[in-house]
Amino acid sequence: MSAVLNDGCLIHHSVCILGLMNHDMYVCSACGAGYPLDSLAFRCSCGGLLETADFKPVFPPAGSYKNERSVFRYAQAMPPFAGMERAWADAWKRVSMGEGLTPLVPLSSEYSRAFVKVEYASPTLSFKDRGAAVLVAAALAAGARHLIQDSSGNAGAAVAAYAARAGLTCDVYVPAGTSPHKVAQIEAYGARAVLVPGTREDTAAAALEAATAGAAQGSVFYASHVYNPLFYQGTKTYVYELWEALDGSLPDTLYLPLGNGTLVLGAYYAIQDLASLGLIDRYPKVIAVQAEGCAPVQLAFHNGADRVEPVANTGTAAEGIAIAAPMRGSQVLEALRRLGGEVVTAPEAGLTNARHRVAACGFHIETTSAATFAAFFERAALGMDEGLVVLPLCGSGLKSSLR
Ligand SMILES: Cc1ncc(COP(=O)(O)O)c(C=O)c1O
Ligand SMILES: [Zn+2]
Repeated sequence: MSAVLNDGCLIHHSVCILGLMNHDMYVCSACGAGYPLDSLAFRCSCGGLLETADFKPVFPPAGSYKNERSVFRYAQAMPPFAGMERAWADAWKRVSMGEGLTPLVPLSSEYSRAFVKVEYASPTLSFKDRGAAVLVAAALAAGARHLIQDSSGNAGAAVAAYAARAGLTCDVYVPAGTSPHKVAQIEAYGARAVLVPGTREDTAAAALEAATAGAAQGSVFYASHVYNPLFYQGTKTYVYELWEALDGSLPDTLYLPLGNGTLVLGAYYAIQDLASLGLIDRYPKVIAVQAEGCAPVQLAFHNGADRVEPVANTGTAAEGIAIAAPMRGSQVLEALRRLGGEVVTAPEAGLTNARHRVAACGFHIETTSAATFAAFFERAALGMDEGLVVLPLCGSGLKSSLR
């Protein structure tokens, strides 16, 4: 059952920065220190993660934004773009490639109340374009010249594409075992793909080292979808779009993939925005899906823990959600609990079958995206009625290996 809204059940930020460039745009979640956006900081000097400062969103889009055909349709709801200096608007206009505003279509006649959102219809064939467009536009406006990114492949490809469009150089760190299609895509945009042996966490450590060294040079920006909170300003547009497409309401149930949680957190922030604006009166049920072989958040959620302890990745074909030590794990737990959500695991043995079943409906998705459907099919087979359900087609099947 969906949680019902009440005062005090949402996470609130503490600083108001509406429209003022000189105010702090980022706030440290550990010590509360403020940072201006053009500092290119990717974390606080105390080591804490940065959050965007409090902001009153304008939603639904007003004025000329109503005609904008990209995620920047919601720029008035995104710090730092709303009410900012000209350079910021110029930056997103230069960088945007019409990402987002993806189709919402029925999955098949068999599942009459399940809809898919075709996220691979974005320019680099995954939902990561939503966050990358926002992040790279901000980097450009803040004066960055060189970007560093680390990812399981899709966020790296997205940042590489937007960096190319912005005229910025880019190094993308990926695990050595990443799908060759994703590596080729990153290189096609002119970025340098740095293949790191070992785990996804080893890749993150290598990128962090490079970003820390680069920060001393002044024009290097760590375009991390995990460290940089602006990424979530992009992913939250997924839920804004649903609200518009469903004529001012949200689905009963949202299935979302969960690795680091960029879509889960984005969805949470959007739901929080809609609630604070009085545009919804109950939360959708959020079902976050992890891979059976790498499910640290699911473990913590079910143990009632506040922190996510790292697990050993015992192997999964869903490479995009194989995050053994999610850095924003506590935030993801808190968001899911406040929404009255759930974390489930997708059966590893069901991934290929789910991918084929979705393809039989006309949608060719990558194996990571199939995990969300494997969980959905399993629960539907148990006869669970979850009302109007939306699942994202997060990444194109062209991105993963052939079979
Ligand atoms: C296709 C696909 N789906 C889902 C995810 C999960 O996103 P997150 O790690 O932000 O939770 C990713 C991440 O790379 C992905 O590439
Ligand atoms: Zn701090």
